[in-house]
Amino acid sequence: MRRKAIPHTGRKGAAVEQRSEVTRSRIGLHVNGERYETEVDHRVTLLDLLREGLGLTGAKKGCDHGQCGACTVLVGGRRANACLLLAVAQDGAEVTTVEGLGSATGGPGTHPLQEAFLERDAFQCGYCTPGQLCSAAGMLAEAAGDPEGVNLTRAEVAERLSGNLCRCGAYPRIVDAVLDVAAGGGVVA
Ligand code: FES
Ligand code: FES
Repeated sequence: MRRKAIPHTGRKGAAVEQRSEVTRSRIGLHVNGERYETEVDHRVTLLDLLREGLGLTGAKKGCDHGQCGACTVLVGGRRANACLLLAVAQDGAEVTTVEGLGSATGGPGTHPLQEAFLERDAFQCGYCTPGQLCSAAGMLAEAAGDPEGVNLTRAEVAERLSGNLCRCGAYPRIVDAVLDVAAGGGVVA
């Protein structure tokens, strides 16, 4: 399996690297199917590692406090706020960001949710969109795996995505897009 070494100098991750006097550990994780090994400061979040260390800027930093959902990624197939996770705790994790969402369904190209968002024009500025997409993918997987079954009504989808804020107010179209995918079989990550 291909391994990528992560450079430790220069780039936008300088702020992360300048904390090198504190405790660091070496970790390995898979992101979008690629293996990465790096040494991380114990205070660095998964979001900062993704954005500044790996150059994967799809996950956005909105609040950096677990309140907006802009940083949502999938960890082990479950949605998570990357700003709340310490990178050092993700040793061995399988992470999917919006950059890898399409290939997570088994092939290259866009994820059905991405196509549905385009069809439904489910965004304005797009800042929240990567998080909305990852959250929706995780939510559909949760619903599909619920042994009691989940009736994904409009209200249910809105409630299950309520952790992802959209200050442009694109909520109705986001829900439309997710319902389209759910009705089509709910392809999930
Ligand atoms: S940036 Fe993580 S929840 Fe807002
Ligand atoms: S599309 Fe602008 S914040 Fe959601």
